[in-house]
Amino acid sequence: MEIIEKAPAKINLGLDILHKREDGYHEVNMVMASIDLADKLIFRELPQDDIIIETDSSFLPVDRRNHVYQAASLLKEHCRIDKGVHIEVTKRIPVAAGMAGGSTDAAATLRGLNRLWELGLSLEELAELGKEIGSDTPYCVLGNTSLATGRGDELSALPAMPACWVVVVKPRVSVSTWTIFTDLAVDTLHHPDIEALEEAIRLGDYQKMVASVGNSLETATTAKHPIVGQIKEKMLKFGADAALMSGSGPTVYALCDKYSRAQRVYNGVKGFCEEVYIVRTLEGQVDH
Ligand code: C5P
Repeated sequence: MEIIEKAPAKINLGLDILHKREDGYHEVNMVMASIDLADKLIFRELPQDDIIIETDSSFLPVDRRNHVYQAASLLKEHCRIDKGVHIEVTKRIPVAAGMAGGSTDAAATLRGLNRLWELGLSLEELAELGKEIGSDTPYCVLGNTSLATGRGDELSALPAMPACWVVVVKPRVSVSTWTIFTDLAVDTLHHPDIEALEEAIRLGDYQKMVASVGNSLETATTAKHPIVGQIKEKMLKFGADAALMSGSGPTVYALCDKYSRAQRVYNGVKGFCEEVYIVRTLEGQVDH
């Protein structure tokens, strides 16, 4: 018995930080969307009660520090499962990049093991469990285009973002979300207009959407890693309709409605950075 799950990356079309909360997290207002850049996870039953992770990525630990391990362990405990599982993770999403790579693998693990062990939990129940793993995990369980509030784990579904091409660039620096949030001067932040963005998506208005994207964390990450600003500038120069950092970075993406334009942006940044992808936006990868 073998179960395969696709774990798509997310981009933040909008990310606004409202204030720091008493529990240490930041209150956010975000719009997230899934893109067709995905990891692949294969789940196989094991004869012994154990969680064994195998991955082609040299950046990932295969023990308790891995979000996949945490998700499997959480589900085993929650549903009192005494079976073992072997999980093979083929990594395509850049690591420590602002694209929820770890959270989406954890989410795929919750969905995959729910099927493998025939637990019958709903996606909403899995999303609720995902809160224990990380702020982005509930979103990754459900996927698609969504508004996320609270610490990023309160979700309300939006219509699919207008379809377009996404050019993704991961510069060779790693960013710790924790460090960016810890050093954040909340009073000085720029606040994108999330309501305008939400309305653009509801209307299916691509032009209004590209005019409304924005990320409160961009200035903080760019101050530490100027390459983020340089990539953004290049993308706009080569004709991107919008260019923005995702999450706490350092990944920057461009939106283009025409493939020829996306290719120009791709070629323009390819000589500058190694990790560059052209992908489509993605809708409906998870059955609701
Ligand atoms: O929830 P997660 O473990 O992915 O978050 C990583 C870190 O990012 C947290 O420890 C916290 O410092 C910061 N964070 C935050 N506010 C959020 C989400 C994350 O301060 N809404």
